Amino acid sequence: MALASFTVPSTYRTTLNVMAVSSEPSGAIGPGSKRGGQFLRLLTGVQNASALVFSVFLTVHLASPLAAAVGGIKLAGKTMLIGRDLYLPLEPILIYAPLALHLSASITKRAYLTLRTRRLPALTIHLITGYLLIPFLLPHIVSHRLVPQTPSPPISSLSPSEFGLEFVAYSLYTRPITSFFAYLGLVGLAVPHAVLGSMKIVSWIRRLRAGTEPVGVQETPRRTAAGIPKGRRRSAGWLLFGLLDVVLVGLVRLYWEGAHVSGFMARRYEEVFAKTARLGFGLR
Ligand code: HEM
Ligand code: HEM
Repeated sequence: MALASFTVPSTYRTTLNVMAVSSEPSGAIGPGSKRGGQFLRLLTGVQNASALVFSVFLTVHLASPLAAAVGGIKLAGKTMLIGRDLYLPLEPILIYAPLALHLSASITKRAYLTLRTRRLPALTIHLITGYLLIPFLLPHIVSHRLVPQTPSPPISSLSPSEFGLEFVAYSLYTRPITSFFAYLGLVGLAVPHAVLGSMKIVSWIRRLRAGTEPVGVQETPRRTAAGIPKGRRRSAGWLLFGLLDVVLVGLVRLYWEGAHVSGFMARRYEEVFAKTARLGFGLR
């Protein structure tokens, strides 16, 4: 039986021998088969295109905690309102559809490759941050977007101007440990994942334009295990470190503002926490 050398994604850090295309049973979808290659290419396209769309939201969204470091809650609040004017009307196509597509394509591709090669992937920072982000992001969306829309009192459908950085400040002030953990965790996972992911997407676009995309797999020989040159990874590390520091300063400034929330708004925010906990998303 003929054997063909097939280089699996960089995260596997190995070269496996898999059956050559000609020896695949007809209709089989192995990574080395034509259909397998097309399937992986499709998943990679969905994964990368949806990630690019979601990055637009993320960039706008993270501008307000960064602004908090410079101008406190006033500047951060204004930044968030401007950002929300941009992304709220496009919420389904800018946020939820790309997020759902990115996650489903990523998980399908990973499951498929793991099953076909019968090897667990190497634990790269990109992979770890991607999966850890899920339990941070879901409660964030539930508590910051879904529950605040509850029409019954005392929440009474918190409007965009009523629900923003003031809620973040209140949450940091009344629940400092869980709130700092949740916000810093979100940023600390999302930013390296997005930065490393963007580098992979740039390489993918270059290969697409050159017509040298390997079967939907992000392979970059002569580079590091994560498929990204060491120098660029080091710069990304410094970028993350600097960004986290700025976000931390922003959150500390917001924390002090949390003491000034009115009793009326505090009751509504408390119900958001209570309802989020009842739904089973207690952390954030
Ligand atoms: C310090 C960091 C963060 C703070 C203070 C923060 C704060 C907020 C606030 C106040 C909202 C409700 C207002 C709105 O809809 O825009 C919100 C919504 C949201 N946040 Fe964050 N966030 C942070 C980080 C992140 C990160 C890193 C992500 C993504 C990985 C994220 C994803 C979302 C999503 C998807 C929504 C719902 C947006 C919508 O449906 O319109 N957040 N966040
Ligand atoms: C914000 C912009 C984002 C970018 C640029 C991005 C980019 C990428 C890329 C390029 C991959 C493919 C990696 C590969 O095949 O080698 C990937 C995988 C993945 N992403 Fe994202 N992503 C983003 C946001 C997110 C978010 C918000 C989540 C989670 C809620 C997430 C979860 C995952 C997971 C679980 C994987 C699969 C990891 C694996 O099994 O290798 N990503 N991402």
